[in-house]
Amino acid sequence: MINKIALAGCGNVGTALLEILHEKRNILKNKYNFVFEVTMVTDIIKGTIADPNGLDLGKILEALHEKNSLKNFKQKEGTFDEILLYSNATMLAEATPTNLKTGEPGLSFIRTALKNGISATMTNKGPIAIAMNELMALAKENDAQLKYEGVIMSGTPLINMISSGMTGCDIIKAEGILNGTTNFILTEMSEGMNFDEALATAQALGYAETDPTGDIEGWDPAVKIAILAKILYGIDINVNDVEREGITHITAEMIDKAKAEKSKIKLIASIHRDCNGEIHAKVAPTKISRSHPLASVDGITNAITLTSDNLGETTLIGAGAGRKETGQALLTDLIAMAK
Ligand code: HSE
Repeated sequence: MINKIALAGCGNVGTALLEILHEKRNILKNKYNFVFEVTMVTDIIKGTIADPNGLDLGKILEALHEKNSLKNFKQKEGTFDEILLYSNATMLAEATPTNLKTGEPGLSFIRTALKNGISATMTNKGPIAIAMNELMALAKENDAQLKYEGVIMSGTPLINMISSGMTGCDIIKAEGILNGTTNFILTEMSEGMNFDEALATAQALGYAETDPTGDIEGWDPAVKIAILAKILYGIDINVNDVEREGITHITAEMIDKAKAEKSKIKLIASIHRDCNGEIHAKVAPTKISRSHPLASVDGITNAITLTSDNLGETTLIGAGAGRKETGQALLTDLIAMAK
């Protein structure tokens, strides 16, 4: 069976997915029996193209690399719903920018896909943070699948690890560094760069959100913690209920002082269930000793330690952001959905 992929959002992550698919087409077929065509690519700025028989990925990538646009191809007119159905897509990869207030446009795109029995994966945190229950129900009703490996720690397989590798474990606590941009900024500041320069570098490297306030004020890791609350404990936490403090008030002096005390300042995100069964969720800059397991996690890297009944402490360290790293999350979900 040929899996027909529609891509919504062709920025850094969407383009990286297309690159990986193109580069690995044969490996994906031979090793994973994953045969595919990309039948739709839509991006609010770059244009919309669709062909139910499959688009030419080589030419698309050439246009993206040379002109950063798809406007040279014949544009497909119509609404997202019409074009998605025209494309005969069997799966949607959703990588539009995160909007934590409305979830749009990703939320509507995913609703449309699921209502039509088209499975969806997303790296966009908005839809899953706002409407996880609704989307899960919609997927079930329509016999479609919903996956979101990339919303936490990009392609580092935290969600897969929890949902399959740790099946049966009761996870009491999760604590980690879940935002690459702020970890990068704190690391660079400790090397002498100022806050604004470090943020600009994180933006240029494609790590920061389109609106970086989400990163530096801690909204991004707070959303990730709210998503973890659902995955780990099946409870709905509003992002506003996560105790949250960002890093905008952290100064070079504070970092130097921590250094002198053989410590580091890290933006730690945590969630745990206390002995009364109450859930506590928090994101805050925290001074940790250099010997703390999270102290050596620098730059864009993320890490999380899960404390569970059967395994004790399990720590996962890996990429937390990045175009290829997040494209990998979409890829792994697409292949899982095909299976
Ligand atoms: N802006 C996010 C980060 C991207 O820096 O971690 C990955 O969710």
